[in-house]
Amino acid sequence: MNRVFSGVQPTGNIHLGNYLGALRQFVELQNDNDCFYCIVDEHAITVPQDPKELKKSILDVAALYLAIGLDPKKSTVFVQSQVPGHAELGWILNCVSVTGELYRMTQFKSKSKGQESVGTGLLTYPVLMAADILLYDTNIVPVGNDQKQHIELTRDLAIRVNHKYGEKTFVVPEGRFMKSAARVMALDDPTQKMSKSAQNVHSRISLLDDDNKIKKSIMKATTDSDGEVRYDVENKPGVSNLLSIMSALTDRPIEQLEKDYEGHGYGDFKKDLVAITIDALRPIKENFNEIRYSQDLIDALTAGAERANEISLATLKRVRDAFGMGI
Ligand code: TYM
Repeated sequence: MNRVFSGVQPTGNIHLGNYLGALRQFVELQNDNDCFYCIVDEHAITVPQDPKELKKSILDVAALYLAIGLDPKKSTVFVQSQVPGHAELGWILNCVSVTGELYRMTQFKSKSKGQESVGTGLLTYPVLMAADILLYDTNIVPVGNDQKQHIELTRDLAIRVNHKYGEKTFVVPEGRFMKSAARVMALDDPTQKMSKSAQNVHSRISLLDDDNKIKKSIMKATTDSDGEVRYDVENKPGVSNLLSIMSALTDRPIEQLEKDYEGHGYGDFKKDLVAITIDALRPIKENFNEIRYSQDLIDALTAGAERANEISLATLKRVRDAFGMGI
């Protein structure tokens, strides 16, 4: 059975980009693989967080994990800081990585741009992510396209260590990306990816948005003036993004959708996308409300951390031995 690992930061509300790019893969993979899904609160603190908000967000993301269909009997769902091995392996890998390769990460470049002082954690963020993955002998990492470079770094570090300390030290993982909607773009500016932190709330649809907000955000979405529902990322990035979202939510190929909307304006197309999105998110919101304040959620996270600790300690022992650490 393959091992799967992925994580989501508990910073703000999970949006359609997170869901279509990453989270829907989590559910798909849980039947045939041994899956570990983490809420990465140690990554969240690489930028300042309000402690009360962070605590709330951790449980929000955990509840959303279950609300989209993750079953804690099948998947190990847990919070990163409850498993000390992440920080320990992160440290060991810090001593294997070099600063040059971390300065080259595009996410670091964009997050540190224009900042007077940049936290060390922001630079070493991808090393902790590599530790998350390698700690569980992971084979497959389901993520959105924006994490490609971080997965490459993880593979490089694993190969580097194996070369020096023995080929069996780490399993070298592979990223797994969706064919459609691996990178969902912002609704108000389709040249930027949809993100939790953008100022304009209409740039994204959060999984917990109410129906009115969903309608407003989609009807306001940036398109173009030629009026044809056609997929052409270069010349029609807004319409192409909406087509990818509709295709991902309905499992209908984009070519089919283009045919269906031939001769229709953007109004009809957007109205249908509103209805499709509202229908897709309704059960998630209902499940979320049921789970969020339940004891079952805390029980699932407690059991998840216990199993994650057990598995990660075995890897850590192997790594410490390979490096000659300890007594
Ligand atoms: P985060 O919290 O930013 O995003 C969670 C997941 O959502 C994907 N994603 C998107 N996919 C498509 N379109 C978008 N606009 C979009 N925005 C985000 C991300 O690719 C991600 O899969 N570094 C990670 C968290 C992490 C992690 C890990 C992931 C920490 N350790 C180990 C995998 C394995 C992050 O910041 O995700």
